[in-house]
Amino acid sequence: MENQTIPPPVELKNPLVVSHKLLMGPGPSNACPRVLQALSQPVLGHMHTELFQIMDDIKIGMRYLFQTRSNLTLALSSSGHSGMEAVICNLLEPADKMLILIGGIWGERASDMAKRHGVQVEILKKELNRPVSLIEIDSAVSRFRPKLLFVVQGESSTGIYQDVEGIGEITRRYNCLLAVDTVASLGSVPLYMDLWNIDVVYTGCQKIIGVPPGLTPISFNERAQKVIFNRKTPIQSYYLDMTLLGQQWNCFSKDLSRVYHHTTCANLLYGLREGIAILVEEQLENTIKRHQTCAQRLYRGLEKLGLEFYVEEEHHRLPSVTTVNVPKDVDWKNVLAYAMKNYRMEISGGLGPTAGKVFRIGIMGYNATPENIDGTLQVLKEALEYSRNHSKL
Ligand code: GLV
Repeated sequence: MENQTIPPPVELKNPLVVSHKLLMGPGPSNACPRVLQALSQPVLGHMHTELFQIMDDIKIGMRYLFQTRSNLTLALSSSGHSGMEAVICNLLEPADKMLILIGGIWGERASDMAKRHGVQVEILKKELNRPVSLIEIDSAVSRFRPKLLFVVQGESSTGIYQDVEGIGEITRRYNCLLAVDTVASLGSVPLYMDLWNIDVVYTGCQKIIGVPPGLTPISFNERAQKVIFNRKTPIQSYYLDMTLLGQQWNCFSKDLSRVYHHTTCANLLYGLREGIAILVEEQLENTIKRHQTCAQRLYRGLEKLGLEFYVEEEHHRLPSVTTVNVPKDVDWKNVLAYAMKNYRMEISGGLGPTAGKVFRIGIMGYNATPENIDGTLQVLKEALEYSRNHSKL
């Protein structure tokens, strides 16, 4: 080993210690002990029969959470961004037209991605603190005649809830596909993929499902699959190719044996199965009610603190992410730093168009309890007072 000039780093001789923080931002949320326990089960190989059973459980669990019978329902081995990219690269070919409803950073991100794939992007954008109406959507779809309409149901950067009921009828009328991003919203508001004629849905596992980031549940219906299987050009991403992933997840036929595509992380899949199982036990309507009840409690508390909501109309607010304007006499960075330093609590600042303008408070999964809401309000109250009295920590 005489050529070894780099010594073993002393830093790595220290044991790993990660202390607890209460994650009351827009995600990730804290994973519950049951999920953490599942993550630490023994590692399995990606082609082991036991893991295939776990993948099958995830498929049926996600069909329940998305409310779909679609066979092509699975989890991508990557973070929420990959859901967005999978929609674009599977359904669209260069020069195809995509209409994006932009209500914050995630619509912007989809536009950036689509352009990189050579897609022609059209934008529907109004004021960021209100959702877009069905009339506005109808008129944009009829004007641009896109192949795909992309909508974010819960914009975590602005806290807007974009109701998607009724959009599917519009897209069907114009022979257009509808993709809905539910990364921050699934489990806090209703979503009926089949009933609402949504062709593709994806979500994040690190929000309401309460699993560490790294997997993205996604579902393509038959209409979307027809488009994928009739492409003229190959899907540009091998990693996100749904025809190959569908074979690994055995989505297309019961008789087909699984075909290796990539090495899945067994332990993350255990965590996802457990996170879904917890929501199945609670039942979707109760999960939604719990998040909405917590949101109401948060709104009343924020009003008492004299804070103004970025999204004025209560029914336009995403229950899982609340945005309030940063008061003029407060330094937002001080407030976040106070909460973290004194309480190890994460409250977030704005993101993208709301950066520096809002605080974002998340109510997600295991963290969605009245106790956590009351605790967050108390910490926020103190932090605001502190920031008003001190310009710097
Ligand atoms: C991430 O999803 C965020 O909204 O910050």
